Order: sequence, then C-alpha cells, then structure tokens
Amino acid sequence: MDLSELDSVINQKTVLVAAGLASNGVGTINDAKKISMRTKEVGALFSLDAVQAVPHIYVDRDYYDADILFCSTYKFFGPHMGAAIIKKGLLESLKAYKLACATDDIPFKLELGTQNHEGIAGIEPAVEFIASFGKGKTRRERIISGYEVMEEYENFLADKLRSALKEIPEIKLYQAPEGVRKTPTVSFTIKGMNSGDAVRWIIENYSIFVAHGHFYASTLADVLGINENGGWIRAGFEPYNTEEEIDEFIKAVKELITK
Ligand SMILES: Cc1ncc(COP(=O)(O)O)c(C=O)c1O
Repeated sequence: MDLSELDSVINQKTVLVAAGLASNGVGTINDAKKISMRTKEVGALFSLDAVQAVPHIYVDRDYYDADILFCSTYKFFGPHMGAAIIKKGLLESLKAYKLACATDDIPFKLELGTQNHEGIAGIEPAVEFIASFGKGKTRRERIISGYEVMEEYENFLADKLRSALKEIPEIKLYQAPEGVRKTPTVSFTIKGMNSGDAVRWIIENYSIFVAHGHFYASTLADVLGINENGGWIRAGFEPYNTEEEIDEFIKAVKELITK
C-alpha cells in the first residue's frame, strides 16, 4: 500500500478510516500501525479489517489502537461466524437500527434476535487450536507463541512454493517485494491460460483444491488487468499443510503447462 500521501489523504476532515491489515488477493500485510497513528493524530476513528490476517499472524487490537476490528472465525478453523470487536464507549454511543423492543445491552446490541449458539460455542476450540501450537502459562501467551510457530512454518511452506514457481517461465507471481511481510498467500497466473480452467484441471487430475478469481480484491485485479483471464490462481497454507503437498502441486502445474 502506497502510504506516501497518508498525511493529505487523512486530514482534519476525516471522521473514520477503514483499512485492511492483509490483502486477500496477494497476501501483503499493510503498515496498519502507521495508518492508525495518522488517524489518531487527526482525531478520527480507526476500523481495521483483520479478516485475512488473523488466520496467519498474531493481531493485537490495542497495538493498532483499533476502535473497531473485524475478523471471521471461519477463516481461522472456526464456524461460519464473523466478529466485530468494538471499543465499549463507541458501541455504547452507536445507534443500532432494529426493532424497538430489541435490547441495546452489550454485547447483544448489534446482534440478530436469536444467536447462533452452536457457532459461538465453536469459536473457543478454534482459538485453542492456535494456542495448542504455543507455550506459556496463560492462554494469551500460548496464543502469541502459537502464532509464532504457525507463521514460521507457513512462511517456510510459502517460500518453498514461491521459489519453485519462480523457476517456471510461464508463471507470473503477484506479490509485494522481498522484505515486505506477507501472509502465506501465493497468487499467480499462467501465461496463455485461463485461471478457472487451470484450477479445474488441477482438481480433476491431482485432487488439489486451489481457488481462482479476484478474491474481492477486484480493484487490484482490474488495475493489473487479470480479471479477463479468470483472475489469480491462489494457493494458501495452513499449519496442517505439508512439503509433500507442495511437491505434488508443483508437479501438477508443470504437467498442466506442458500438456
Ligand atoms: C480481507 C477480507 N475482509 C472481509 C472479508 C469478508 O468476510 P466474511 O466472509 O466473513 O463476510 C474477506 C473474505 O474473504 C476478506 O478476505
């Protein structure tokens, strides 16, 4: 993200800044701390979309001084739920448009009438799964160290895939430069091939599921001109992925290109 004009883009007229922490399309982790600091300098509210970051890196709401932070539990091994973490004073002052008889009590203020209890119950084990990789006396310590373990392993896998893909002349990788922190999201296109056709072939012949499209990063995809050809092919990693799967995936891509 180009932050060179941050001071003029965020100015005394700014009321709310909404920023993304990690790109769903290409995995770049943005300097949200810098955006937040400028936002607070002008007295505006800061909302952070951490949906794509939380599955891979430790995110501390207070480090970013986020008034609102979003994440989706289904992205980190949990049920199909979304979470909005809103500072109490702000949530209290918000006007919620809903039935007059629905409660304004927190945490129910922005919820539907009946809760998804089974979904809510499924969130804690998902958090525990992340903590299970870590060490420490408290759950917080285990979550932080669990994320460190996950991040190191996932980056190791992603780097292995990126290095292998770079060797294939028909492949174009889309990623921020070396040294920019990224999620283990590896997006690429294959010269002369529609990305939808490519992923379908890989599924049918190798039973490896990688998705294709713009992944809601449609502006970036438009600017890069890749939407006409089915968008990116995107491979991502989780702690349960293995090196053997990468070898198999590379084999599939190479066979697809030469077939
Ligand atoms: C960065 C980002 N924000 C928001 C969303 C939407 O989240 P949900 O599917 O929970 O509505 C996504 C989904 O891919 C995402 O990657």
